[in-house]
Amino acid sequence: MRDFRNRSVLITGASSGIGAAMAEEFASRGAALIITGRNEARLEEVKERCIAAGACRVQTAVLDMTSEASIDAFASALQEIPDCLVLNAGISQRSEALETDESVVRKVMETNFFGPVRLTMALADKIKAAEFMNIAVTTSISGLFGFPLRSAYCASKHALFGWYESLQTENSNIRVTFLIPGRINTPISLSALHGDGKAHGQMDPGQQNGMPAEKCARIAVNAIARGRRRKLIGGVELIMAYLKKWAPGIFWMLAGRVSSK
Ligand SMILES: NC(=O)c1ccc[n+]([C@@H]2O[C@H](COP(=O)([O-])OP(=O)(O)OC[C@H]3O[C@@H](n4cnc5c(N)ncnc54)[C@H](OP(=O)(O)O)[C@@H]3O)[C@@H](O)[C@H]2O)c1
Repeated sequence: MRDFRNRSVLITGASSGIGAAMAEEFASRGAALIITGRNEARLEEVKERCIAAGACRVQTAVLDMTSEASIDAFASALQEIPDCLVLNAGISQRSEALETDESVVRKVMETNFFGPVRLTMALADKIKAAEFMNIAVTTSISGLFGFPLRSAYCASKHALFGWYESLQTENSNIRVTFLIPGRINTPISLSALHGDGKAHGQMDPGQQNGMPAEKCARIAVNAIARGRRRKLIGGVELIMAYLKKWAPGIFWMLAGRVSSK
């Protein structure tokens, strides 16, 4: 199990939910953190909690994963080679495929797929120079199968598997861990996009009744520390991932009936 004491950990989407909880979990293990997101005030709150939890150092940075300029400026200002890169920022969707404007599909793909890929590319020299680096990618069980009202979201999460698995095959000095959450209690449904681009603005029961973000973060950080390649995290909803793989007939009986809220 890798010890993260005094090791630098860079987390995207650390201002809320799973990312904020992972920051605190790494902090409790004595890591030096670089936490990023768009909301500066929330990042400062997470920073305070990380310091209280035992982080050896915490730096905040405003980073918009949909902006090439923001990613490039952030990457070129970064002095150190992170020991661990956690690509976690993301937004969700709540609209049928045929009712979703292409601009919404692009926004979800920009945030969830092209943003992490651009940041990884911007850090390419540091990744190549690293003796060893953990790269954790927060995908979703929606990256393992299609799901109602999540077409663009599913597409973005599926794409992450393809790109980062390929990256892993080409670089033996990195260990990619795919974090695959099911339903986690975070405000992600509030910012999820409808087909016209408007925010859903509601806390969905799936998240409300989901696994606490702190528990998810503990499991996620343990999986990274152990060098696991994939880690499913959640409750009973994970059964859909197993059914898709081992009993696709039953999966297809249930797929359209699963609550998408
Ligand atoms: N909660 C679940 O049930 C669940 C299940 C499966 C997978 N996931 C995945 O877990 C990850 C974290 O989500 P969460 O549940 O913790 O939701 P959350 O509480 O809404 O957090 C999302 C994070 O992403 C950041 N973010 C969103 N758009 C961004 C952008 N354009 N640039 C930079 N940062 C951006 C947000 O920060 P700012 O607003 O400050 O930018 C925030 O810190 C996501 O990738 C999500 O898809 C969540």
